[in-house]
Amino acid sequence: MANLSSRKLFLFLCFFVGAVVLYFLVTKDDSMIVSGKTILEYGSSSRGASKSPSTDTSRKASSDISTGESPSSNLLTGVSSHASADKSADVSSYTVGKPTGASSDISTGLPADTQITLLLRMPGSVMEHRERYYCDLFRTTVLYWPPSYGKTVLVLDDESRKDHEFAEIVNKHARENFPDYKVEVKYEALPKDQSVLDFPSAPKGPGYNRQLWSSFFFDLYTNDPIIAWMDSDVAFVTPVTKSSIFNGTKLRVLGWDCTFHFTWVQEWALTTERALGLPYVADYMSFFPVYIYRDTFVSCRKHILKHLKVTNFEDAFKLFYHDRNVLSPVSVVLSYAWFFERSRYDWNMKLCTDLTEYNKKFPPDSKIRPEHLEDILSEPQTAFHVPYGEFLTANILISYCLTQQEAGNRIDFCLRHSFSLNDNFDLLHHDLQRVRTIRSNPCANGKADYCLQVLGRHYKKVGLEVKENKRKLEWSHVETVEKLAKEIGITCKPLMY
Ligand SMILES: *[C@@H]1O[C@H](CO)[C@@H](O)[C@H](O)[C@H]1NC(C)=O
Repeated sequence: MANLSSRKLFLFLCFFVGAVVLYFLVTKDDSMIVSGKTILEYGSSSRGASKSPSTDTSRKASSDISTGESPSSNLLTGVSSHASADKSADVSSYTVGKPTGASSDISTGLPADTQITLLLRMPGSVMEHRERYYCDLFRTTVLYWPPSYGKTVLVLDDESRKDHEFAEIVNKHARENFPDYKVEVKYEALPKDQSVLDFPSAPKGPGYNRQLWSSFFFDLYTNDPIIAWMDSDVAFVTPVTKSSIFNGTKLRVLGWDCTFHFTWVQEWALTTERALGLPYVADYMSFFPVYIYRDTFVSCRKHILKHLKVTNFEDAFKLFYHDRNVLSPVSVVLSYAWFFERSRYDWNMKLCTDLTEYNKKFPPDSKIRPEHLEDILSEPQTAFHVPYGEFLTANILISYCLTQQEAGNRIDFCLRHSFSLNDNFDLLHHDLQRVRTIRSNPCANGKADYCLQVLGRHYKKVGLEVKENKRKLEWSHVETVEKLAKEIGITCKPLMY
């Protein structure tokens, strides 16, 4: 009796399971593909996710990122022993560390064509961010960033249909109007665990937290050895040169401690120290682009996991960020670089504190030395965070005219002004976000001569490049972007005056 009914139950169960499987096979719709993909990108090994075919090309791009990593070890979640993280670190240090000699750049010692990805993470569905991208970033990239330096990568929200639509527009505009400038769009899925971004005591909203979260994974969106960390609301302000990026093979880093009296900076210090188990070195939220070796991100994540004794980055993020304190990912990554990769970067910091006093918090082998300090920048800053320094926008035209003048070109709208190098003095400030509020003029008190020398050298160099046709400097590019922005309902404030 009991036997019979259990057999019936078994048969019924078989039928039920079969029906469910059949149902899913028949109604395999878009939402399933998306969630399947989310598992692929963010899932842990326990899901046993395997590569699923992507349905459209843009989606394909995002899953390409995880290609080459075994499904059982997802870089994003940091699950397992980071075999894949190790591998990608090796790949890029090989590319970077061993210049081929034959085609190496004399000024940097790196292969001449070492590519740098201009990388920005933004929500493509938000009109304000679209506007910033066109009017701040893209409009000035086509003016001041030489396309030979590297492509632009936008990282958008994968789950948002509007982001995919925005990607189409951005791609089309770049392709049809600026064939020299490569623009790529990549997508990031939400963390599998929503509570990573949305938690009760969060100092900011989930959208903002997502930006912070993403900042630790920039290596996933490019294979180039160097990442130029940007924001959508950052604008280039003067021609970017190799010497503003490199000192030899080292990447230039700025930074200072003069903001340490701000509560939020003290909170950055706290969250950084929690993440790394080592002191916060300085405020690195003071300049753009921030040039970072791609593999530094990989190693930094690995260190954080090890320090916090967890196996996935969701847990790590919760441990160092989940309370009321704010977080500065760039300060975490560059503080990491200070302790573990110091010799790969060229440190140009400025202190408002006495050096001996400041050094008390560092272990003996990690003290800041005078050669890591620079009181006035030896190269002008090439970009600024627009919302924090609108008035610096005037410098975009100033720099253009100074370069053309140096190149020996007479440009009508430049002749309406009489710009000189000291109109550019603000660009020698360590922190373009605070240029008006803290230590306003680095070129005061008898420093003007040095400032003029630095700026003079900069414009001589770029002027010569323009003259010799090694660099394009076309105001028409600015106008083209303004026209493209108009097409999608965006009116950029004029840069011309
Ligand atoms: C480049 O680095 C060297 C030391 O590695 C330093 O002596 C020199 O001043 C640096 N140059 C600039 C322009 O910062």
